[in-house]
Amino acid sequence: MPATRRPPAVLHTVTIDLGARSYPIVIGTGLLGAAETWAGLPRAAMAAIVTNTTVAPLYLARLRAAVQPHYSHVLEVVLPDGEEHKDWPTLNRIFDALLQAGADRQTVLFALGGGVIGDMTGFAAACYMRGVPFVQVPTTLLAQVDSSVGGKTAINHPLGKNMIGAFYQPQRVVCDLDTLATLPAREFSAGLAEVIKYGPIADPALLDWVEAHVEGLMAREPACLAHAVRRSCEIKAAVVGQDERESGLRAILNFGHTFGHAIEAGLGYGRWLHGEAVGCGMVMALELSRRLGLVSDAYAARLRRLIAAVGLPVRAPVLGPDNAARYLELMRVDKKAEGGQIRFVVVDEAGHAWVRAVPDALVAEVIDACSGA
Ligand code: NAD
Ligand code: GLY
Repeated sequence: MPATRRPPAVLHTVTIDLGARSYPIVIGTGLLGAAETWAGLPRAAMAAIVTNTTVAPLYLARLRAAVQPHYSHVLEVVLPDGEEHKDWPTLNRIFDALLQAGADRQTVLFALGGGVIGDMTGFAAACYMRGVPFVQVPTTLLAQVDSSVGGKTAINHPLGKNMIGAFYQPQRVVCDLDTLATLPAREFSAGLAEVIKYGPIADPALLDWVEAHVEGLMAREPACLAHAVRRSCEIKAAVVGQDERESGLRAILNFGHTFGHAIEAGLGYGRWLHGEAVGCGMVMALELSRRLGLVSDAYAARLRRLIAAVGLPVRAPVLGPDNAARYLELMRVDKKAEGGQIRFVVVDEAGHAWVRAVPDALVAEVIDACSGA
């Protein structure tokens, strides 16, 4: 059942400061279906809402009705659902629909869905006629706290996740917390992985807060959701504002992702959710940090307990008979790798994170220690 309709309420607005490309992240309730939410966007004759077969029956009609007053024509593009469809053929369906409908350079794309829809629609917006405006309307927790913010857009390649893409910022991000009511429990937990991530890399107080509010978060209490989304967006906006194109600092947002991407690619996209792989990847990155003497046994155990408490896996899958070698092979196809040397985000206990190269032998020890039943 779609979430109940209620009058719009903006609870927080977080600005992402990128000079002329700055934009607001609007967080609230009842936002999706309110015409005023969509006022003030670039003027255009046509809007195109890109979504998928799961989200369309829940929210497409509501968003369509709310954007309709601002455009003469609203095109709907409904894609198949799933990480396994974050690929060239599916991306091309967006271009097919835009061209067939006569979409021009002013056409505004709306990405209605989770991170898969957001990343693909953003990439389509970056490419179509060399760039059209787009708006992120994230409907998963993961997309509200992470993927819709910061302008990373991409599709997967069979040889590596998010390998084909562009930095391209949206005009606006609208996080309607009401949409989280229909999210399956497993997807909700996956989103919490990215919320937890901001603690060890940037904000020990957020880590304490998440630990103290696990029950409220898991019960999706509105106040807990609002705080988690706002604080996550503030931290991400601050990082992206300093390093939009990941020449340095922004890489810390990939804590746990090097291991996590290997899990996703190694098992086949879609078997583990992205957030599940990131949660388990953080357990592995913490074990690496522990073996490097950066965090104590107690800190690594604390994080592992928290990740498990929000319903995420903490043991990594075995990727074949030569497990560590397979992980290492997959991790070499990582955007942080330099000259074939894999680089990892590591943390200390004070909320600092940085990227460093680590000898393969040590990484293999971590993989052996963290994977299997
Ligand atoms: P997703 O987009 O696959 O959505 C998860 C599932 O929930 C899908 O089945 C979707 O249809 C469904 N869904 C979405 N909203 C719903 C709702 N309100 N109610 C019910 N069902 C709903 O996955 P995700 O976790 O949102 O995003 C993961 C993707 O995001 C990955 O591809 C990852 O690489 C990408 N990502 C990108 C960035 C970035 O900075 N661009 C950051 C993190 C992750
Ligand atoms: N999710 C990582 C980033 O946006 O940089």
